[in-house]
Amino acid sequence: ASLKRFIEMVPKAELHVHVEGALEPELMLALAARNGLPPPYPSVEAARAAYHFADLQSFLDLYYAGCGVLRAEKDFYDLAMAYFRRAAADRVVHAEVFFDPQTHLGNGLGWEVFMPGLARAAEDAAAQLGLSAAYIVCFRKEMSAASANDTLSGALPWLGRGHVIGVGLDSSELGNPPAKFADVFDRAARLGLQRVAHAGEEGPPEYVWEALRVLHVRRVDHGVHSLEDGALMAALNASRTPLTVCPLSNLKLKVYEGQLEARLTQLVGSGLVVTVNSDDAAYFGGYAVANYGYLAAAAGLGVAQVARLAANSFEASFFLGPGSGGEA
Ligand code: ADE
Ligand code: ZN
Repeated sequence: ASLKRFIEMVPKAELHVHVEGALEPELMLALAARNGLPPPYPSVEAARAAYHFADLQSFLDLYYAGCGVLRAEKDFYDLAMAYFRRAAADRVVHAEVFFDPQTHLGNGLGWEVFMPGLARAAEDAAAQLGLSAAYIVCFRKEMSAASANDTLSGALPWLGRGHVIGVGLDSSELGNPPAKFADVFDRAARLGLQRVAHAGEEGPPEYVWEALRVLHVRRVDHGVHSLEDGALMAALNASRTPLTVCPLSNLKLKVYEGQLEARLTQLVGSGLVVTVNSDDAAYFGGYAVANYGYLAAAAGLGVAQVARLAANSFEASFFLGPGSGGEA
């Protein structure tokens, strides 16, 4: 019981959360109604019942479909504020939040629709909830390098504190190794942006090596498949490159099916800078506290180890980390 209380109360930074993945079915249906769109599901219960995934792609298909209800600036404000309120209730005091501009641009929206809504939510989260927030633009890995480059151009008016502090890579991993994005990541570096990438979620350790060596990322999102390469684990350890691990996401997307608890135990014991995150809480069934709780039970952690994970989240953040995006 005291471990549960500690997990609830310890201040945390959340570093791997997609704002679109915080779209709870209640808000999804409300936004569909507000925007005069057909509801993606007949009811909240039907949506939740549909959230059973065989792998990453089967999740992404529903996640992108859900994004279709986001049409107006206020939709993005409401979505982000709902996440910030929920995160603050879990004692998240700092969040670096991914979003997928290409998805919204593909739905016919411009930056002037989604970005002011997201930015105003970050300002209100700081003022009303004491939660500092910044955004990381994700490029979708199955899309072209040219599209990623155009997306970065679109972000240029929005760089800086409370707005966009970095770039990342997300979406379909297998068959889409990171090196395709070398040039756009170089450009992001020259702009003073932080770089992260989803790698080693479903894909092999080679994709993590590429993210490190070609994209020069400062954090690896997921990275759980690094466990299969001892030299990679040693390199991540030596450079103190953090992994943003998302335990309930790995569970629901059947990463390491049958062996997940053993793999998570190994990761936490590895000495790497492991952090705990919710990824897409509305789809995977839990925010920060639920992810810490699941991991603590799966890996048999006590208070001291949970405290270490929470401390790691601040070390790994761009709020305090070297070359802090907070200066941007
Ligand atoms: N987009 C949202 N969640 C994601 C995940 N877990 N992996 C890749 N892309 C994502
Ligand atoms: Zn993710």
